[in-house]
Amino acid sequence: MNVLLIGSGGREHALAWKLAQSPKLDRLFAAPGNPGIAEHAEIVALDIADHEAVAAFCAAHAIGLVVIGPEAPLVDGLGNALRAAGFPVFGPDKAAAQLEGSKGFTKDLCAQEAIPTAAYRRFADKDAALAGLDAFALPVVIKADGLAAGKGVVIAERRAEAEAAIEDMFDGGYGSAGAEVVIEEFLTGEEASFFALTDGHSVVSLGSAQDHKRVGDGDVGPNTGGMGAYSPAPVLTPALEARAMAEIVEPTVRAMAAAGTPYSGVLYAGLMLTAEGPKLIEYNARFGDPECQVLMMRLENDLVDLLLAVAEGRLAEVPAPRLSRDTALTVVMAANGYPGTPEKGGSITGIADAETPGVKVFHAGTALQNGTLVANGGRVLNVTARAPDIRIAQAAAYKAVDAIDFPTGFCRRDIGWREIARAGTS
Ligand code: AMP
Ligand code: GLY
Repeated sequence: MNVLLIGSGGREHALAWKLAQSPKLDRLFAAPGNPGIAEHAEIVALDIADHEAVAAFCAAHAIGLVVIGPEAPLVDGLGNALRAAGFPVFGPDKAAAQLEGSKGFTKDLCAQEAIPTAAYRRFADKDAALAGLDAFALPVVIKADGLAAGKGVVIAERRAEAEAAIEDMFDGGYGSAGAEVVIEEFLTGEEASFFALTDGHSVVSLGSAQDHKRVGDGDVGPNTGGMGAYSPAPVLTPALEARAMAEIVEPTVRAMAAAGTPYSGVLYAGLMLTAEGPKLIEYNARFGDPECQVLMMRLENDLVDLLLAVAEGRLAEVPAPRLSRDTALTVVMAANGYPGTPEKGGSITGIADAETPGVKVFHAGTALQNGTLVANGGRVLNVTARAPDIRIAQAAAYKAVDAIDFPTGFCRRDIGWREIARAGTS
């Protein structure tokens, strides 16, 4: 089977690496890809926004499965266009991708289905939103409704900050994402990510992970797309996972199907583990980045089989995902300046030395310049290790980090700290 993979980050490199292990795979194509993905796939110059051109490529290359990695093409309806042209697609249609594309949509669905989540109100008008703040205690959470590349959430400790965030969103500070705003109750607890695969009807667990969103050690500094992750996240115990499945994910999948917009793909639930149980913070309509990297290191199934079964509505007929009991941990090496303006063009060497058994370096933002590997984005490499426990995985990942020479880059040195602290007291 020929597969087309859409995307260019560490998430897509991990998917390419795992797809390439499948005996079912004939040719893997990737667009736009990156130098790491190019080790497993033929890179093709396709304009992802040109849905007809992507469909024409699929027809010309006998593509049997399209895997869409990032949220933007999903929300843009690439899945609809390719399905309409007869190609199996892993990733939701435009209407179902609203679970990520519109925070207000998801909150309304939660309210309708009694899915546990933070109390909220939606506003399409600045003055109404400012007045609406009266109904919330501090801290309060202000969210731009639409896709804002992970930057659309402000946690305001003071009323003035909340007002400034609302003003900024309605004044275009977040582009069209801020045309509507959601104000939310602040939840307390520990965060965990839960992943489920669904073909619109059947739902299976794909395990858990924990991300590290702040740029600095000890979870300080600005938010990022994620500076590292590990899987599993034992804080999401089997009992809590069962609740998240029964109280959050399954009712969502049922409601989307009942509305005539079944959700097919991976549903990534960002959860807050509160004193009352798991509550939904947000959904993503795709794999997490870098959470996908640690999930792929643990996944034992044939990824072509699994993703094709989702795409073709046959999930109930294939073996459920099996995840190794090992822990996988990934450290993001970022370019200096990230999450602001990252320094581009810095050279990177030593990846081959870093890749020992159980260690894989995924490329996120890299490029080849005259044959030299250089940084070409904010998050540059995902140095990933798999081992019987988190301490060993962490040590292996940092040993690999230290084997890489990337003078214009940096990383957090404490990925996995919450779990390691817990392991230390048990
Ligand atoms: P996002 O950028 O959408 O992934 O969300 C950013 C982060 O904001 C989440 O990972 C949470 O840490 C935090 N957050 C979002 N909503 C809430 C909430 N209602 N209560 C507490 N923290 C929240
Ligand atoms: N690492 C967070 C995300 O992919 O949304």
